[in-house]
Amino acid sequence: MTKKPTFYVTTPIYYPSGKLHIGHAYTTIAADAIARFKRFCGYDVRFLTGTDEHGEKIQKKAQEANKTEIEFLDEQIADIKALWKKLEISNDDFIRTTEPRHEKAIQKIFTKLYEQGDIYKGEYEGNYCVPCESFWTESQMIDGNKCPDCGRETTLVKEESYFFRLSKYEDRIRDLFENGNFVEPESRKNEMIKNFLDPGLEDLSVTRTSFDWGVKVPFDEKHVIYVWIDALCNYITALGYMGEDDTKYKTYWPANVQLVAKEIVRFHTIIWPAVLMALDLPLPEKVFGHGWILFADDKMSKSKGNIVYPGPMVERYGVDALKYFLLREFSFGQDGSYTHRNFVNRINSDLVNDLGNLVSRSISMVEKYNNGILEKNDSTTEFDESLIETYKEARKDFEEHMNTLMFHEALESVWKFVRRTNKYIDETTPWILAKDPENKEVLNKVLYNLCESIRLISALISSLLPHTSEEIFKRLSITGNEELTNWESSNEFGLLASGTKVQKGELLFPRLDVEEEISILENLFAERIVDQESTNDEKIEEEKELEHKETITIDDFDKVELRVGRVIECEKHPKADRLLVSKIKLGSEIRQIVSGIAQWYSPEDMVGKDVVVVCNLKPVKLRGVESQGMILAAGDDGDDLVIPQAIGAKSGAEVR
Ligand code: MSP
Repeated sequence: MTKKPTFYVTTPIYYPSGKLHIGHAYTTIAADAIARFKRFCGYDVRFLTGTDEHGEKIQKKAQEANKTEIEFLDEQIADIKALWKKLEISNDDFIRTTEPRHEKAIQKIFTKLYEQGDIYKGEYEGNYCVPCESFWTESQMIDGNKCPDCGRETTLVKEESYFFRLSKYEDRIRDLFENGNFVEPESRKNEMIKNFLDPGLEDLSVTRTSFDWGVKVPFDEKHVIYVWIDALCNYITALGYMGEDDTKYKTYWPANVQLVAKEIVRFHTIIWPAVLMALDLPLPEKVFGHGWILFADDKMSKSKGNIVYPGPMVERYGVDALKYFLLREFSFGQDGSYTHRNFVNRINSDLVNDLGNLVSRSISMVEKYNNGILEKNDSTTEFDESLIETYKEARKDFEEHMNTLMFHEALESVWKFVRRTNKYIDETTPWILAKDPENKEVLNKVLYNLCESIRLISALISSLLPHTSEEIFKRLSITGNEELTNWESSNEFGLLASGTKVQKGELLFPRLDVEEEISILENLFAERIVDQESTNDEKIEEEKELEHKETITIDDFDKVELRVGRVIECEKHPKADRLLVSKIKLGSEIRQIVSGIAQWYSPEDMVGKDVVVVCNLKPVKLRGVESQGMILAAGDDGDDLVIPQAIGAKSGAEVR
């Protein structure tokens, strides 16, 4: 058996110091897409992600939370891992820089560089921003001594430090930039040359004595190894470099592509290759610096309240919709601006209209005109050639764009074919062919071509939208049939067998009501910010002792009918300031419910929420307005009230 070619892809390791937003997830979703695609194409893929756990910021955060560093980190890491699981990220390894496999190797790397003279001891003086963990020069700071990134005051720090001889590698780094495509996109490469290489590289301070949460310099323990040497080397320590077993290092290094966002391109394209050069190791083939996802043109930040988290998006729209949006909407190398409206419109136009309709129209017609059975015959129409030609181009372009990480163009190549296939329906008009039995053969061939096109689309998108692709294969009854679903099979038009039974199934993507959905999204994220702040407060409070009610049996509980209801209208009670009157959709019913929540929720906050309703409470009149049930809410007297939501559940669904 011939050995598969290898492919090693990495994301940066994440700071575990708070919840990750969709901007963070963007890097990982992109890395996952390329990893899945390469696996699909037959590569032996290694996909690494992890967490960057040392440094003063983490130490401070742990202290603030009244925890040891590791206690604090373990919780954060559990959240990050849970998020990657939810996003179905297919990483093969997850490295934590606090793991012995990393720390031990870092000490060996540091010692080697020191012994060979690439690291030496000196004294460092600089203006340091603690929250950003960055030193700034006089000319970089704003308003005298403020950090240009966060605007906070820097402190002048003078300390003994070890330095890495970055200047020694300047010529080799310049060569690297000038020959080949080590850094992409081109614009980032030019920025690096202009801003860092042209002014000349200075030696880099690589240890600190001002804090101790880090890997200790083994021969001088008052120093900890500063973040960049520690963090960057994760890409090789995770493979076992300088560890007990370096088989993986030998198999996968050098990386084929390392993904980073633009603000850390400098570290990855100047410092990182210099460290590798000093260690006499091969360099990664490519470092790609993608753009930032902004929120309506502004940087996402919790304090500004303009943040979108991936978890709730996945719960509401599914993981494929979020992945599709992020990879299709933005050009990977450039900044992009997220808005709820763009999100909803993109899902409606591409997934609901183009793809969803194509699949449901085509399969319905096979069910209607040929009992759900595909028949392959020799008939042709004048439109077949153009359909097949468009597919060939789509596949070629898709492959090329995936390999150059132009995900948005890769998806657009597939969607050109999706739209071409929809046009094929309009051109061949199967509903007219169906009127004349003489056209039966042509009709069947048109239907076959449609389903074959859908199979090919599904194969191409399988690394980007795995669920959708699986679902389409299921409808074509070819789930798990390698020969019809793998990458090679996507190279040939006409492989579906005659006699295949197809089935329509539910809508792949339900249509979203644009305005309603935008208001739901606004509420969803506005509330998360409040939630986060209040959970921090709660941590400081004492845990109170609970007074329990009498035990009930499951039969008692069964008497209460709890269901999910969507608030579709809400207004203030005409006579009571404390009360809101909501119209709630429960399956096909609409209920009116009066609740004492006006102090915490405005009518606008309520619209779009999927709340839990007690349905079988006897109706009562509250200040003259009938209430036909009760919305569940949490909070003791005197507390803020929170309305728990059943995000993602259907209206009318039973709560058990
Ligand atoms: N720990 C460093 C990386 C060390 S790698 C040896 C770090 N961590 S991070 O958690 O701040 O960021 C992780 C990734 O998310 C980085 O690629 C970062 O640039 C990216 N992003 C953070 N916010 C982003 C957006 N709003 N948009 C796109 N990417 C963003 O940096």
